[in-house]
Amino acid sequence: MTSPDFIRRAWETVHGYPMVYAFAINWERIEQFQCRPEDIWIITYPKSGTTWVSEVMDLIKNDGSVEKQEKIPINQRVPMMEAAAPGVLPSGTEYLENMPSPRFVKSHLPISLLPKNFWESNCKVIYLARNAKDVAVSYYNFDRMNKFHPEPGTFAEYLEKFMSGNVAYGSWYEHVTSWWEKKKDHPILYLFYEDIKEDPKREIRKVMQFLGKKWDEEALDRIVQHTSFEAMKENSMVNYSLLPTTLMDHSISPFMRKGIAGDWKNYFTVAQNEKFDGDYEKKMSGTTLKFRTEI
Ligand code: A3P
Repeated sequence: MTSPDFIRRAWETVHGYPMVYAFAINWERIEQFQCRPEDIWIITYPKSGTTWVSEVMDLIKNDGSVEKQEKIPINQRVPMMEAAAPGVLPSGTEYLENMPSPRFVKSHLPISLLPKNFWESNCKVIYLARNAKDVAVSYYNFDRMNKFHPEPGTFAEYLEKFMSGNVAYGSWYEHVTSWWEKKKDHPILYLFYEDIKEDPKREIRKVMQFLGKKWDEEALDRIVQHTSFEAMKENSMVNYSLLPTTLMDHSISPFMRKGIAGDWKNYFTVAQNEKFDGDYEKKMSGTTLKFRTEI
């Protein structure tokens, strides 16, 4: 396969946010996307465990039966609305338009970039957040292997870009805090990566309840087992290994990389950590939202 022309392109700006070049082409398809009231969204800042919770949601929908999950890649079961690889793959909106309800929709969009009729449709949202330091490390490694994104440079250079919001989808700080506020007037289940890591059963029960599914201990056990990091790392339907290496090169860094809380300690120097903490305190001073950077 020859390299498509969106490979390693600089971010495109969409309404003030840095956006993946391939996704920004024909942005009207996002603005005009028809939400349905029965849609259920999984929204996250990138690298917060979206694939993990998407797989959990889809298993809950199917009462823990893995039959469909073993045959169909996650991006076709829980399509990412804004995703596009022109000339290579169908776009997220194309997958979604052809899906029967109730659909699961994945997105990383900040509040102001959502489709025009998103709020009117009042659909349920699961928002998943992960602590900023682990997101920065995971995003850095993702940019190294994901050729939809420009090269991240060194980790030191990347960390500066992360703090200033010069990464795809913009500022982590703005994303997690604005969705936290939105909880007050929209049906949002706000989850934390670290909580799921700590007690997957407890958190998956919350998702079941939110989705209106009856609690069944046996199905729950199957879901926990099927969505462990070890199981998902080996599962080609969720680990993105089916994508051509022209798009994602897992030999540089696998998509299912470490799957832990606290890996930032292997990356941040003492000086970087101090600077990051000082900046964090300022940016997060107005919110009640609290994160754990280890468990
Ligand atoms: P790391 O790079 O820290 O390993 P997203 O799906 O939003 O892109 O997030 C990807 C991150 O979630 C990666 O983090 C990946 O390893 C982690 N992840 C995916 N599945 C997981 C699971 N079942 N358990 C724990 N972490 C998981």
